[in-house]
Amino acid sequence: MARVLITSELPPSATDPLAGHELVRQGTDVDAIVCQLTDRFDAATLGRYPELRVLATVSVGYDHIDVDAATAGGVAVCNTPGVLDETTADLAFGLIIAASRLFAVGEADLRGGRWTGFGLLDRLGRDVHGATLGIVGYGRIGRAVARRATGFGMTVLHHGRRPTGAPGFVDDLDELVARVDVLSLHVPLTDETRHLVDRRRLALMKPTAVLVNTSRGPVVDEEAVADALETGRLFAAGLDVYEREPAVHPRLLAAPRTVLLPHMGSASVATRTAMARLACDGVRAVLAGEIPANCLNPSVLNTK
Ligand code: GLV
Repeated sequence: MARVLITSELPPSATDPLAGHELVRQGTDVDAIVCQLTDRFDAATLGRYPELRVLATVSVGYDHIDVDAATAGGVAVCNTPGVLDETTADLAFGLIIAASRLFAVGEADLRGGRWTGFGLLDRLGRDVHGATLGIVGYGRIGRAVARRATGFGMTVLHHGRRPTGAPGFVDDLDELVARVDVLSLHVPLTDETRHLVDRRRLALMKPTAVLVNTSRGPVVDEEAVADALETGRLFAAGLDVYEREPAVHPRLLAAPRTVLLPHMGSASVATRTAMARLACDGVRAVLAGEIPANCLNPSVLNTK
């Protein structure tokens, strides 16, 4: 029986794979940890768990974990790829529509008593159907968003680090950014993607364009986005992630034509349950001497 630290409450049946192990909510003498994306595991933190064999995060993103340090320490790291793609794409597409069509402006006006009657020229947004969508990062989630866009009659272009071989690939990110009506981000946060959408790239976008970010906050320079919205250099933004969560930049809160959500891309009952279960199953597998498919550094397990 191993000791497994669970850092936050999980959906009820998610820990079933760990039956037979001792589940604890604190302590450092543990063999395994199930964490979430707000728990940072850098080299120093990992060093506090001398017995640790496996660290599983209930998230697909793992920028909060120093995987190299974990590998150096012989700790397997698991994440939750695959099970959240459609749910996250649903939310991204919801933001595309909500931001383009000014849902938040309309709702705030209604709730604030500023809706005085139908007005032909009031709250005019941008059409989603027929628009050109640019997807940055054409992994599982990016492709799931592309499938939805096709159903809405959008033209879909995409950019990735490497040619995808799929129709609509644009090799030059600057070109993609300049051509699209909606830009949706689906890249992991890495040194390469930090501030990928910066002041210079925002200036390349059409002033009628809409920016949607459901990936990681630091992929976007929030100051530059606030400037672009305030000056009308960008039509609207739909954001689910922020540079300093849970803090939201005050200028974004005050900026016009924004839809701001609290990092909830994968937040459906079924998907959060599937994610937590997958993370727990990764822990189970490593503790049983298996190499789970969701292990990010299987070399750690190969050599044991
Ligand atoms: C959510 O942001 C995740 O990485 O799963």
